[in-house]
Amino acid sequence: MNGDARLLRAFPAKPMTVVRAENTTLWDETGRSYTDLGGASQGVAVIGHNHPAVVAAVREQAGRLLHVAQTIPNDARGRFLDALHDLLGPHYTQTFLANSGTEAVECALKLAVAATGRNRLAACVGAFHGRSSGALSVTHRAAFRAPFGALLAQADHVPFDDVEALKSIGSDVAALVLEPVQGEGGVRAASNEFLRAARDHCDERGIMLVFDEVQSGMGRTGTFLASQPSGVQPDAVLLGKGLAGGVPIGSCSVSERLAAALPPGGHGSTYGGAPLACAAGEAALGVLVKERLMQRVEDVGPRFHGLKHDAVRRVRGAGMMVGIDLPVRPAPVLQHLQEAGFLALSAGTTEVRLLPPLTMPIPQVEASLAALRASLDVLVASA
Ligand SMILES: Cc1ncc(COP(=O)(O)O)c(C=O)c1O
Repeated sequence: MNGDARLLRAFPAKPMTVVRAENTTLWDETGRSYTDLGGASQGVAVIGHNHPAVVAAVREQAGRLLHVAQTIPNDARGRFLDALHDLLGPHYTQTFLANSGTEAVECALKLAVAATGRNRLAACVGAFHGRSSGALSVTHRAAFRAPFGALLAQADHVPFDDVEALKSIGSDVAALVLEPVQGEGGVRAASNEFLRAARDHCDERGIMLVFDEVQSGMGRTGTFLASQPSGVQPDAVLLGKGLAGGVPIGSCSVSERLAAALPPGGHGSTYGGAPLACAAGEAALGVLVKERLMQRVEDVGPRFHGLKHDAVRRVRGAGMMVGIDLPVRPAPVLQHLQEAGFLALSAGTTEVRLLPPLTMPIPQVEASLAALRASLDVLVASA
């Protein structure tokens, strides 16, 4: 065994070696191209791969300062935080910066436990929040959790988007963590009614409400946070994936109440908030706004949601977060798509999930839809 095969993986490797990318296309070492429908970047390429503004910012920052710890203020970090908070709005006063979505979740869980003095957690059926022991405690899927039960905190999982079910979450719970649009467990958008009921229930019971927007945020559904149109403001909102245009990052932004819960020395990260990621993040947020990519979701999103085919039960999600629900497991469709040069994801047990870059040119959107229809035809023909 040698080369990339030495990587310890929990999932099978795809049969290509990717060496380069530009916007929505990647190339392997033989020169073959692939369209990223989310399967290549797992939703990181919100503003496309290698956006020239991000590459320029990374080059410039790398020439000046790659790293300085969180304890020392930094100009790039300051500019990034200002740009982020402009998009988040005034409810969130401070942000912890980390290196991944999982770490953003860990930060929120720790703050909620410190703020409430409680040790139970609550989340939703179908939730995915990451794989470290805190984040895995609120992740739902048994296959991800079962081998590591000894490490996990006590967590209750209530049905998603079910207002009545919220009543079972008691006053011994520190945090209710939920994805306003679920991704990994099956693409589902929560109703505004559910988000409002979650806020009310948490207020009544002194529970911290955490929105995990690692996948749904950064403009993917047409607003910076998928939860913004609901008007519901959680105690913490979490971002990651494409927030720094492809450089590792995670953020946990909190209101004053939760910021005050951070005990001295209570949390930290060597690389979190490093100048390189912050310079990339400032550039990525600039692109999102200046190129009006969130407005573009209104035009491009419905093209994917309008997909019609005999093999499709329904298309779910919001904006550029799309779940194509099938009557069977999606593996053959994903395989056929991959052979045709289109990389998508699965979600839940029966969905093809698409997380395309917001920058995808319309002809490539149409080509992707044609490839999807062809892959679904194969499914029907083999049934
Ligand atoms: C909603 C959500 N939360 C958390 C995570 C974990 O993020 P990361 O893989 O960057 O640790 C993911 C990753 O897919 C996610 O979709």
